[in-house]
Amino acid sequence: MGKLIVVTSGKGGVGKSTVAVNLAYGLAFDERRVLLIDMDAGLRSLDLMLGTENELVFDLTDVLDGICTPEQAIFEIKCRPGLFLLPASQNSGSAAVTPANVRSLLASLNSAYDYIILDCPAGIERGFRNAVTSAEEAILVITPDYISLRSAERTFQLLTSEGLENIRLVINRIGKRPPVSTDECIHRLELPVLGFVPDDPHVMRAQSQGKPVIATESPAGDAFERIVRRILGEFVRYRVPHKSLVYKIKTGFGKESACKDS
Ligand SMILES: Nc1ncnc2c1ncn2[C@@H]1O[C@H](COP(=O)(O)OP(=O)(O)O)[C@@H](O)[C@H]1O
Ligand SMILES: [Mg+2]
Repeated sequence: MGKLIVVTSGKGGVGKSTVAVNLAYGLAFDERRVLLIDMDAGLRSLDLMLGTENELVFDLTDVLDGICTPEQAIFEIKCRPGLFLLPASQNSGSAAVTPANVRSLLASLNSAYDYIILDCPAGIERGFRNAVTSAEEAILVITPDYISLRSAERTFQLLTSEGLENIRLVINRIGKRPPVSTDECIHRLELPVLGFVPDDPHVMRAQSQGKPVIATESPAGDAFERIVRRILGEFVRYRVPHKSLVYKIKTGFGKESACKDS
C-alpha cells in the first residue's frame, strides 16, 4: 500500500471528501501521523468537515506562492492528535499550483507523515492532475448509478495514463435499491474493492457538527472503520449493505465473491 493516496472520482458529489476525511481520521491513530490535503481550490470543504474553519490562517496556495512555510499552513486537528490538515485556498486560480510544484512540496513533506491523503476536486482538468501527480495509490469513489460509473471509467483511464496502477474502489451511498447493483459496478470497473459504504443520514448529521462519521456509532462509521483496517493490511470481511439474505447465504454471509481483499 502506498502512503501517498489520492481520493478521486471524476464526478462531483459522490463522497470523495467524505471518504478522504474519514479515512485520514481513522488512520491517524496509534501514533501514526496523517496529513490530509484539500486540493479543491475555491470549493474547500475539509475544514468544515473537521470543524476547523475558523482556526485556519494559511492554505496550500499560500505555501506554493511562497507567502508562508508549509509548517505555518498545516494545522493539527485538536480532537484527533496525529491528524493534520493542509487546507485549500478559498479562491481558485494561482499559477503556482502546478503538478511540478505540488510534487516538490509532497517530496519535502513525505518523511514527516505515515500517510498523505489528497482529496481531489471534481472533474478531470488541471486540479485533477495537480492532485494525482506523485500519488502512489488512488481510491476511486463511486455511487452505484450509471453517471458515476461512466465518469469513473473515464477517470480510471486518466489515472492509468498518469502511470497510477494501484487503484482501488469504494462504492459509497449504497441504498436499499441502488440503480446499479454493486456487482455490476465491480464487473464494469474490474478493480479491487476497498469497501462498501451505506447511504447513511449519520454522515450529514456528523458533518454538520464538524466531525467525521467514523467518530460515531453508525453504519457508515463502521464501514469506514473496516476500510481503514484494510488499508492497514488487515483481512476484513466484506459487508455489502442491504444485500438480501439469499445473496448473503450464497456468498457466505458478507464475503463478496467479486472482491479481491487487500
Ligand atoms: N455514505 C453517505 N451517506 C449519506 N450521505 C453521504 C454519504 N457520503 C457522502 N454523503 C453526502 O454527500 C454530499 C457530497 O459529499 P462530498 O464528500 O462533499 O462529495 P465530493 O467530495 O465527491 O463532492 C455531502 O452532503 C455528504 O454529506
Ligand atoms: Mg469534495
